[in-house]
Amino acid sequence: MTAAWLEQSTQRIETELEASFIHLNEPAKRLQDAMRYAVMGGGKRIRPLLVYAAASLKGQSLEKVPGIDASAVAVELFHTYSLVHDDLPSMDNDDLRRGRATVHKAYDEATALLVGDALQTMAFELVAGSALKDEQKVATMLLLSKAGGLAGMAGGQAIDLESVGASLEQPELERMHRLKTGALLRACVGMGGVAIDLDEVELERLDQYASSLGLAFQVVDDILDATSDSQTLGKTAGKDAAADKPTFVSLMGLDGAQDFARKLHQESIDSLSVWGDNANLLKALANKVLYRQN
Ligand code: IPE
Ligand code: IPE
Ligand code: MG
Ligand code: MG
Ligand code: MG
Repeated sequence: MTAAWLEQSTQRIETELEASFIHLNEPAKRLQDAMRYAVMGGGKRIRPLLVYAAASLKGQSLEKVPGIDASAVAVELFHTYSLVHDDLPSMDNDDLRRGRATVHKAYDEATALLVGDALQTMAFELVAGSALKDEQKVATMLLLSKAGGLAGMAGGQAIDLESVGASLEQPELERMHRLKTGALLRACVGMGGVAIDLDEVELERLDQYASSLGLAFQVVDDILDATSDSQTLGKTAGKDAAADKPTFVSLMGLDGAQDFARKLHQESIDSLSVWGDNANLLKALANKVLYRQN
């Protein structure tokens, strides 16, 4: 049942992403083309799936949650923006993303910057114009903006770049991972919860799940960077060691990092216990994060 849900929901987000581009007819054709290239070129769509799964926590169908697709699309646009900028020569300098040339390679650097800028604002535009209630829109935009900014992804990315060549202790490394990757994953789950009007206590509990999962996500990303190959990953393997970045693998070794990821995964699953079977989709996504191959 969860396997079927995952497949249907992945199809759903692909259709919704496609739809968000189909009516665009702006004069800046090349930019629009590059935005579409970045967004529609694959990707696991974990973040929108988290939005959908959190919005399913009361057992109702997504058809009964107005505005939920806008939230799901918005996080994927936002995440894609972060990837396009992360790959730039001034950041990680990567040529390969989602199995094909990065945006600055397929187009050019200035276009890649603008793709990020425009995807980020498009995310907020979609939420603002969605079928969410006004207070849900504000809460959703607050979650997304905080997760993406100084106290979230952008701040984490800044620490990441400052840390090249350094050997961080676990608390600092954890903080960096929680900011650069964990914050946005937490926002996804929060956005799903906001759309079904979960109360403060429920949102807090859900945030514990997302907090453990968000850290686990980047620990697994570090492990895959060290153990997998570029073909499987769809991005250049071995980049972290080559760029002398501190990672959970460099800090604890491979076995230590794998144990840590398993511990975080278990913590995230444990946070869901009060919801019983209604949390099966969130559990399935936690498993997907831990056992993924790319
Ligand atoms: C990669 O994210 C960047 C990180 C935050 C580690 P994903 O592994 O979710 O990348 P896609 O969206 O599937 O390409
Ligand atoms: C990226 O971390 C986090 C982002 C905010 C995009 P990485 O630099 O490890 O992501 P990959 O490995 O390039 O996908
Ligand atoms: Mg990076
Ligand atoms: Mg990178
Ligand atoms: Mg990585």
